[in-house]
Amino acid sequence: MEPPLILICVDHRANVLRHFEQATHFGVNILAEDQEALSVRFAERGLDRFNGIDWHPGATGVPLLGGALARFECATRQSIPAGDHLIILGEVLHAEWENGAPLLYYASSYHTAQPRKRD
Ligand SMILES: Cc1cc2nc3c(=O)[nH]c(=O)nc-3n(C[C@H](O)[C@H](O)[C@H](O)COP(=O)(O)O)c2cc1C
Repeated sequence: MEPPLILICVDHRANVLRHFEQATHFGVNILAEDQEALSVRFAERGLDRFNGIDWHPGATGVPLLGGALARFECATRQSIPAGDHLIILGEVLHAEWENGAPLLYYASSYHTAQPRKRD
């Protein structure tokens, strides 16, 4: 937390990797549970992902998505090659968030987070 850091992991085979390697800043958007279509769109290859969607540049120029549960503007601090991914550490310069449930992805499908039931 001192300083606040966040990490992303980018596949060495991803075309976006070269942009992250050169960027001084990057944005992280935590999608809300109703944004599955947006996640699917950003996982597709060969299209302009930002064309026609609700986004705006933050103070540092990074893309921030409308309707996201949380948005972080980060300054790139360190990159660590690790297996087939590059781990990129960013210092969070600005964060904004709303109440709600995040969109989750595990076991090859989308989920939402529910409070655990207590006996
Ligand atoms: C839910 C979800 C999460 C993903 N997370 C990552 C990730 O953390 N790092 C990564 O490199 N690829 C991740 N991917 C795969 C990328 O979306 C995919 O490799 C990328 O779209 C490749 O496009 P590009 O080669 O044009 O960059 C994820 C895909 C999905 C569906």
